[in-house]
Amino acid sequence: MSSNGRKKSELTRRDLLGKASLAGLGAAVLASPELRAQEPQQYQVGKDPGKHEPIADFKFDIEASRGWIGEAGSAKEATIVEFPASQHIAGVSMRLKPGGIRELHWHAIAAEWALVLNGTVMGTVISPSGQAATDIFEEGDIWYFPKGHGHALQNIGKSDAHFILGFDDGHFSEFGTFSITDWVAQSSPAVVSRNLGLSPAVVAGLPKKELYILPGKVPATIPEPYLADDLETNQNPHKFRLGKMAPLTFPGGWERIVTAKEFPINQTLTSVMQYLEPGALREMHWHPNADEWQYYISGHARVTVFGAHGRSRTEEFGPGHVGFIQQGFGHYVEQIGSEPTKFFALFNSPTFEEISISKWLAGNPASLIADNFEIPREEVKRLPKKALGILK
Ligand SMILES: [Fe+2]
Ligand SMILES: [Fe+2]
Repeated sequence: MSSNGRKKSELTRRDLLGKASLAGLGAAVLASPELRAQEPQQYQVGKDPGKHEPIADFKFDIEASRGWIGEAGSAKEATIVEFPASQHIAGVSMRLKPGGIRELHWHAIAAEWALVLNGTVMGTVISPSGQAATDIFEEGDIWYFPKGHGHALQNIGKSDAHFILGFDDGHFSEFGTFSITDWVAQSSPAVVSRNLGLSPAVVAGLPKKELYILPGKVPATIPEPYLADDLETNQNPHKFRLGKMAPLTFPGGWERIVTAKEFPINQTLTSVMQYLEPGALREMHWHPNADEWQYYISGHARVTVFGAHGRSRTEEFGPGHVGFIQQGFGHYVEQIGSEPTKFFALFNSPTFEEISISKWLAGNPASLIADNFEIPREEVKRLPKKALGILK
């Protein structure tokens, strides 16, 4: 009997995890006949949903949240505060009115990615080597600003601009980033005057707090010259025309996948635009190397996540909904409704990895599959022989 009165044979898997480090657990199980005898019981315990947290809520209606609203635009966040399931990816739905400016700022802990859904946005960004870049982003374009690089945005079109920002850290907060007006307001006026060469009277009139999003005028010339006329141009483009790349087509839809290979400055994320015809099925699969953060642009879909230990969870998604699938969790997407479904997924890895159920099974001998599924060999012959991607 152990000290708490239970027999050793009643040790649970949780007890084992508590008694051995994860690294040492395998060796401990192999070494001890007593522990080996526990395997069937561990399996039973593993099947008990009471021993595992339920799958976290993986849906967030970002567009239904109020967010930040100002004269020149708005921003709605999905950080770890609003959407706790997503620890490593955060998002912001931002709108700028014509001329509206997202002021000069940087993000200390995350790189910034974005997809333009509507409108025309100018972005400026400076690299640590002092190279400046200006780009014009239109519908279907993505941008990527590496962690810490100073940048600013302006809607230079005649209509509202709407873009979805993605960050490679769920703890990031778009409202807590480092803005130029906030910094200057928090600094000694004498230092600001000395550093920027502005008179004390001008410094006294600078904004007293962060402006975040503010009205501006669409410049007459785009792009205007920089303040400095001797800057090197950045040779590593921040812009990728995702909407213009050739898609991978399947019977039920298409995908456009952009990794660091196609978009080299993008060293931490992979973007996948997906289009599902009515009735299509994005086949059962998982991603070994990354979480998947989804934003639904149009149409509807039903997503089912498999979280092991007898756990699964299904949610329905529509325009403006954000979904999250944890790294390694099995999942599939069923298109629903008469309108095609368009959504994008952001992965927190610069390379794209996926294992589909069809390809996995196809890479096994028929006898093994027949025994594993307890089905006749004739049935095994019906299984797909390659990845299906998006089924009709
Ligand atoms: Fe930013
Ligand atoms: Fe996926």
